[in-house]
Amino acid sequence: MGAPHGLSATLAGGRRRRRAPRREAIVLLNDRLQPAAGAAISALDRGFLYGDGLFETVRTYRGRPFGLEQHLARLARSARTFRIPFERDAGYWRSRITRLLRANALVDVDAAVRLTVSRGAGPLGLLPPPGLYPTTLLVAAPLDRRLAMAQRRGVGVCFFPCRLVTATLPTHKTLHYLPAVLGKILAARARAFEALYLGADDTVLEGTTSNVFVVRRGTVVTPPLHGILPGVTRRFLEAVVRHARIPFREAPIRRRALLAADEVFLTASTIEVLPVVRVERHRVGAGVPGPITRRLQEAYAQLVAATLARGRTAHASPRSHPPPAGRAGAAQRKK
Ligand SMILES: Cc1ncc(COP(=O)(O)O)c(C=O)c1O
Repeated sequence: MGAPHGLSATLAGGRRRRRAPRREAIVLLNDRLQPAAGAAISALDRGFLYGDGLFETVRTYRGRPFGLEQHLARLARSARTFRIPFERDAGYWRSRITRLLRANALVDVDAAVRLTVSRGAGPLGLLPPPGLYPTTLLVAAPLDRRLAMAQRRGVGVCFFPCRLVTATLPTHKTLHYLPAVLGKILAARARAFEALYLGADDTVLEGTTSNVFVVRRGTVVTPPLHGILPGVTRRFLEAVVRHARIPFREAPIRRRALLAADEVFLTASTIEVLPVVRVERHRVGAGVPGPITRRLQEAYAQLVAATLARGRTAHASPRSHPPPAGRAGAAQRKK
């Protein structure tokens, strides 16, 4: 951690000063003091995999944290929301912060201490299995020396429209999957496989880890690529639908329309084409996978089998598709 809270960037306009060489930072990882460079966190830690964690940064004044209780209360509130177990006792953390500051010779200066808590390491998959042990990390850094000058002289700011985030972030598969983790937890509590993001105007956007399609009067409809992940499977599926000469449309899908759909299905690399037969308490169609969904499952399986047999990655174009081959594709897939 360099300057806390991106202070470096904020103050970067100033003349660069030659710094005394820094001693190696010591961190407190899972209650053990160790050099930052050698401190190991599991490659399966959910904080790294999904951004499945929380943090607070506390200012310390000559070794004394300010507002620690308030920071811990905020962290605890978020931890409750996202169901991450967290020890919020201020005495516990105060003693750890003191140990850390001592180890880094930061007791007699002003510093920033960052507490990071992740849900811990576990098997792949957004839904956290029971029994995970949270990872906790305390890191301390001296304050940027240029802060005092900035406080005297003031700083500049620029605008950053929120829509840049809301419109852009979901279109990338970033590590920012904490909302999706919560979606999966809520889905599991509702005994559902997936949670569908509902956007403004009650429009259905996509699942936490899937794209969504409905079939209405013979037409396959999926939400347009605004503010959702352009799924690889979604694209293959579109090509499959067109190749099968089934009418296809990209259009916003209202919650009401989803509930009234004849068929609903999800797509994603691991689940392929997955029929949805229940949306909350409502049955979809006849409550069993519909005929178009089944047909698309089979056609998708054929596409996969044919592509793998050719030994190259298919481009999602109808021309690169094999002609429909009855049940052969599905049979191959079961091997
Ligand atoms: C939010 C979201 N939408 C859609 C998908 C499906 O993407 P793909 O078909 O590329 O696996 C995923 C996959 O994890 C996802 O996370």
